[in-house]
Amino acid sequence: MNDGLAESVIASAPGKINLTLRVGAADGRGYHPLFSVFECVSLREYVEIRPAAPGSVSVETLCFSQQTFDPRATAEMALLPPEEHLAVRAIRAVMPADTGADLVVYKSIPAAGGMAGGSADAAAALVAANRLWDLGLSASELEVTGRTLGADVPACLLGGLSVGTGYGDQMTAVDGSRSDLWVLAFATEGLSTPEVFRKFDRLITKPSELPSVQDFDPSRIAMVNDLSIPALALRPELAVLGEAAISAGASEWIISGSGPTVAALVPDMDAVVRVRNVWETFGYVRTVESAFGPVAGAHTESKVPHWAHK
Ligand code: C5P
Repeated sequence: MNDGLAESVIASAPGKINLTLRVGAADGRGYHPLFSVFECVSLREYVEIRPAAPGSVSVETLCFSQQTFDPRATAEMALLPPEEHLAVRAIRAVMPADTGADLVVYKSIPAAGGMAGGSADAAAALVAANRLWDLGLSASELEVTGRTLGADVPACLLGGLSVGTGYGDQMTAVDGSRSDLWVLAFATEGLSTPEVFRKFDRLITKPSELPSVQDFDPSRIAMVNDLSIPALALRPELAVLGEAAISAGASEWIISGSGPTVAALVPDMDAVVRVRNVWETFGYVRTVESAFGPVAGAHTESKVPHWAHK
């Protein structure tokens, strides 16, 4: 099979914005129970997988922003040791012993941005591997494996609108009868998720009780993120972006996950342009994207998108 002509399989998975992210008190391991409302959005990661020599897994990651190759982000991703790449971990979790895999990851969700880019890589890799090796894993088996790789992987697999309880990884799908248009500011510097949670522990000594799925009303989703308190304490300038978005016509803004991505909900394409124009004047904004949601979860693709080339 490993003759260079071997068939490849491609799968994609979406990034997410947490419409709601409530954080409880850390448990004995230092992990925080969460109540999260995920909206998967139209920025997707693509993973292409080809069979390789038994036992070997290689990965090349190509990064794109605004559908254009981004050499700087690509060089940064190349520094990530392959064993820490969530796509590689996903492949190793399911790969049959008598095979190997060469991966190409086409990233449009920035690393360390709070939009589950790494988890989307894992979700797409799991779906591609399932097809390539005909593993026959069901959606719930993929979810179980996904959860061991990262808490956001089940949300990226499922897609749409969902509620995550437990550590944000026990999913309940929600009726997605909403249609959102977002403008996203990706900061020049990422934020480390563990650092944001540590700051949360220092700032919030008595976290409030988490809501339950039973009490959740999908027609009244509150945009609230408990991690915005520590994220804004670490990066006060992000609040300036949020306020600038409101002045430019956004109806609401929120920090996505552990940040530093700022997500502004906008009513129409005119507002997209206005928010983009004002955000692009800030030196600490690396790039501005627009996205819509909710969108489908991880699935196979017949090809990579037209922009996915160097
Ligand atoms: O899920 P992920 O691997 O991105 O988590 C990174 C770190 O963030 C964890 O090692 C932990 O320190 C913190 N975390 C947490 N509670 C969660 C999720 C993550 O404290 N529910």
